[in-house]
This record gives sequence, C-alpha cells and structure tokens, in this order.
Amino acid sequence: MQKFVIRGGRSLSGELRLQGSKNSALPIMAAALLCRDECVLRDCPALTDIYAAARILNFTGCKCTFSDNTAVIDPKEIVRTDIPESLMHEMRSSIIFMGAMLGRTGECVVSVPGGCELGPRPIDMHIAALEKMGVDISSEGGRIVCRIPKRKAHGAKLTLAFPSVGATENIILCAVTADGETVINNAAREPEICDLCGFLRKCGARIQGDGESRITVRGVEELHGCEYTVMPDRIAAATYLSMVAAAKGELILTNACVPETEPFLSVLEQTGCSIYTGKDKIYLRSAARLRAVRERIRTMPHPGFPTDAQAVLMAALTAAEGTSVFEENIFDCRYRHTDALVKMGADIQVLGKVAIVKGVKRLHGASVEATDLRGGAAMVAAALSAEGISEVTGISHIDRGYERIEDAVGALGGDLKRFGE
Ligand code: UD1
Repeated sequence: MQKFVIRGGRSLSGELRLQGSKNSALPIMAAALLCRDECVLRDCPALTDIYAAARILNFTGCKCTFSDNTAVIDPKEIVRTDIPESLMHEMRSSIIFMGAMLGRTGECVVSVPGGCELGPRPIDMHIAALEKMGVDISSEGGRIVCRIPKRKAHGAKLTLAFPSVGATENIILCAVTADGETVINNAAREPEICDLCGFLRKCGARIQGDGESRITVRGVEELHGCEYTVMPDRIAAATYLSMVAAAKGELILTNACVPETEPFLSVLEQTGCSIYTGKDKIYLRSAARLRAVRERIRTMPHPGFPTDAQAVLMAALTAAEGTSVFEENIFDCRYRHTDALVKMGADIQVLGKVAIVKGVKRLHGASVEATDLRGGAAMVAAALSAEGISEVTGISHIDRGYERIEDAVGALGGDLKRFGE
C-alpha cells in the first residue's frame, strides 16, 4: 500500500503545465469505438482511470496503446460487446462505454456501476433515454443487457430530469450514428461535453448546441478517425490553485482553460488571493491570510461552482479568517474528507448538505486516509499548509485523477514523498 508523507508549512511557488482533462479523455476514448479508423488523442493524462479505459478498449478488440500522453486507438475490429464486471468496476465512469458500444454494434452487456464513494450513482436517466432511442434494456444477474432490435438506434426528443454529465454523454454517443435527429433538453453544459462533441465533430459527427442546454445530434452513417488534443483539466487547475492558496506562495498555471475555470476562480478570488488570467494562463498570488468566502458556496451544474472543486477549496478555507458555508447539491456523500480535515485541526460542522467551516489559525499534521479522489486531494492541500508531518493513505484514489502529483508539488517546492509498493 502506498502512502504520501507530507511535511507541511513550506510555501509553494513556481510554474505548472496542466494535465489534460480526465473527464474529457475518458468519454473521448469511449467515443473512439464509434470510428472506423485510427484515432490519436494527445494530452491524455497518465492516470489509472485512463489505463482502465484503455484495458476496456483492448478487451473489446480495439487496439489501444498509450505512451507520452498520447493514446492511439485502432477501433477497426470489435470482437466483444460485453465488458466484464472486473473492468467495469476499475473505473466508475465505465458506463460511458454503453452508448458508444451501442452506437457501434447495436448491442452491449455492461455492469451496474453500483454505489461508489460519492454515494449511490444511479443510471436511471441513461437507461430511460436509451430506451426512448429504441434500445431494449434488461437486467440479468447484475448485468445490464442492451440490444437494439434494428441494430441502429433512432433519434428521439429527450428531456433530462437533471443535467447529468454521464447521461448527456451516453445519449450523444448513441445518437451520432443513429437514424434521424436526437434532441437533448436540459443537457449538461460542462466543458468536457463540448470537448467530446469537438472530437466527434472532427470525426464527422453532426452535433449542435453543446455548451447550451439544448443539444441536437443528427445521425450520420459512420465516423472516421482523427487526431485530437484533449482539453486541459479545470479540476486539476482548481486543485493546484487551492494548494497554493492554502500553503501560500505564487503559481503560474500554463495550458489552462481560463473561461471554463472561471466559476471556480470567481469564488477563490473572494478569499483575497490575487488572480490574473491570460489566454491560457492563470497566475495566483496567495493572500497573507485567506478570508472566508461570504456567500454560500453552492455546488451546481456548470457554469455553477463545480462539485469536484468543493473539497479542495474547503481545505484552503479551513484556515481562513471567518466562517465559510458550503452547500453540496450534486452528490449525497461528498463530505467524507471533512473528518480528516477535522483531525488536522479544522473546525467543520456538517449538517446534511451544508458544511460550516470556521477558520482556525493553522492546521497541524495528522495521519489520514483518502476515501475518494477529490477528498484525497483536499487532504494533500491541507497537509501542505499544516504545521508538521502528515501521512495520507488510500492514495490510489488520488492517482485516479492527478498525474504524478508528487512531481507537481515538488516542482513548487513542497515536500511530498511517495512511499510503499
Ligand atoms: C461527472 C464527472 C464527475 C463530476 C460529475 C458532476 C466524469 C467522469 N465524472 O460524473 O467528476 O463530479 O459529473 O459534475 O465526467 N444521477 C441520477 N441518475 C442518472 C445519472 C445521474 O440520479 O441516471 C445523479 C447522480 O447520482 C448525481 C447527479 O445526478 O447525484 C450528477 O451526476 P452526473 O452529472 O451524471 O455525474 P457523472 O457523469 O457520474
């Protein structure tokens, strides 16, 4: 079992180039299944979730190789349409292969993703939408068996009860080669949806309205391959900015997607940090002591404050002057990092979906266990700002989303070491 040992209290300064977005790269890798020839994806982050997606592709018969942040996917031959439970469970978002596999072959067998560390992760919206597009879906011994009687799905007018990112992606993936037009009302507007659509359009898909709440997809006969560069990771940006805000110092992020990160930046700015942005750069100079954020920080679908940045910002605000209030509106179990922060001296009270964070003078080091990806990153941010030494276990969660985090923190002058096998 690996762990991080972090000596806190050093300020962090320097420049980092942001990794490509995990949440873009995963659906784009699934989308490659729809193509008739090779796809080359640049700036794919080297993460365990990406390797899991590559294993799923290889299992189906696609040939996926990965080196130097480039995934080369040759999807010419598909020999399997069932994805084993073990592979599905390696990565929570494996359900995204459902829409792509259906679009390519008209059938698939996948597993129910089940509960995860953020609480139950239902897929009712995915299923209801795909059924409206002509997919027969049944459950057999915990497996979801999907088949399109006519092999090709048909377009449909759909309205999502909630702008789910995964459901929007699955529908788009099934719709791009379906017969006719699909309209998604109340679609998710996350930038990663636009990135997926950007890739699909480059392969010949006809999609309009991504980034807005009404997306229209007109089915085409087939997609060709392309070369595509994955967008930068706005959540990794929020994480490194929160770390430097917490530990104090200066950070220049390059390869940043500035407009997409603004919902986070506009809240971080309220802590008194100086933030300047350029075309693809974000500069931050931390305040001598952060101020609490006056307005309630409500997580919302994009362009609201991102749920994935809630934990890391909370870590920074634990030692701010005054009281900040968070309201988590997307996931049920997204405060699991708070116990660890409290163990490090934070004053946090959780009442249902609200967390009240009273700023303390300083955190102290402690032994804590990461139980989810962003919560784990929050523990690292807190440990870097704390006095003394912390140990963070459960770091496989963190490796799902941050490329060589110890190198990134080390480059900024932080003391974070990985130990163990
Ligand atoms: C994606 C992101 C994740 C982010 C989340 C919200 C990826 C790989 N993951 O997850 O990092 O935190 O968006 O921005 O891109 N829901 C249902 N029924 C459904 C689908 C969703 O009830 O059929 C609920 C979920 O339980 C959750 C909410 O809707 O409470 C949002 O989920 P969704 O937007 O689908 O998130 P993911 O796509 O799983």
